[in-house]
Amino acid sequence: MRFAGKGVIVTGAASGIGRATARAFAAEGARVTVADLDPVGGEETVAQIAAAGGTARFLPVDVASGAQVGEMVAQAVAWMGALDVMHSNVGIDHYQPLVEMSDADIQRVLGVNLAGMIFCAKYALRAMEGRGGAIVLTSSVQGLIGLPHCAVYAATKAGIIGFTRTLSIEAGPRGVRVNAVCPGTIDTPMLAAAMKDLNLEGREQFLESVRGGNPLHRIGTPEEIAATVLFLASDQASYIHGTAVVADGGYVAWKKF
Ligand SMILES: NC(=O)c1ccc[n+]([C@@H]2O[C@H](COP(=O)([O-])OP(=O)(O)OC[C@H]3O[C@@H](n4cnc5c(N)ncnc54)[C@H](O)[C@@H]3O)[C@@H](O)[C@H]2O)c1
Repeated sequence: MRFAGKGVIVTGAASGIGRATARAFAAEGARVTVADLDPVGGEETVAQIAAAGGTARFLPVDVASGAQVGEMVAQAVAWMGALDVMHSNVGIDHYQPLVEMSDADIQRVLGVNLAGMIFCAKYALRAMEGRGGAIVLTSSVQGLIGLPHCAVYAATKAGIIGFTRTLSIEAGPRGVRVNAVCPGTIDTPMLAAAMKDLNLEGREQFLESVRGGNPLHRIGTPEEIAATVLFLASDQASYIHGTAVVADGGYVAWKKF
């Protein structure tokens, strides 16, 4: 019960890693704001938390809008009493050669994945003024290494790591720790959507190549990333600040020749 009585916001909590993290925070006693664009998935997360005996509420937000993030954080503080932890987790992927990508899609990925993170951190810092807290931002191994046809996504994920590093300088004196988590390949609806154009054979081939490039020879679970986020947000990580923690089964460590 590391988060008993704490107020926690998880963005992108209608699905995948965000849902697992929201459930994990609630299971450890937090009041959780499930913030997402998707009300159906968001209410499903709230129902799952309630069924497990936890406390959560859904608030709609498009993180690409600073005004909406500001309003969502204000409403979350109003019902939770205070904000102790922000897990800013929304991300959208887009696999396409850069030369074929529309300017609108480039702006959308930058707006959701990078500006969205910055808005969430800004309003969380304001809400934590005078009391401190912890901010955890979801980056990716793609912020550290290159993979084909996702340069814009990779730019946002590397940007999150740079943002975390520099934001730590102004957040630290306010008693707010800021860290990023870099998941490897995780079994979520995002992964399923990325594979939707592949036939069954191609899908198995893709999954096999992911497992083969990972010393643990398996894809990660959302719960494994949730556990990393909870650790970073907890007092156990009280001296971890301004850094990015990789949770990828050794994918980045294993450089193949
Ligand atoms: N799944 C992976 O393999 C993997 C690997 C590395 C990093 N990540 C990162 O983890 C995070 C979560 O990924 P996931 O796999 O759980 O994805 P997911 O697609 O399962 O969930 C993403 C959630 O974000 C919400 N969302 C999308 N755009 C939004 C917006 N503008 N405003 C508010 N909510 C919005 C969606 O409705 C959805 O509920 C992302 O930042 C992703 O880049 C995922």
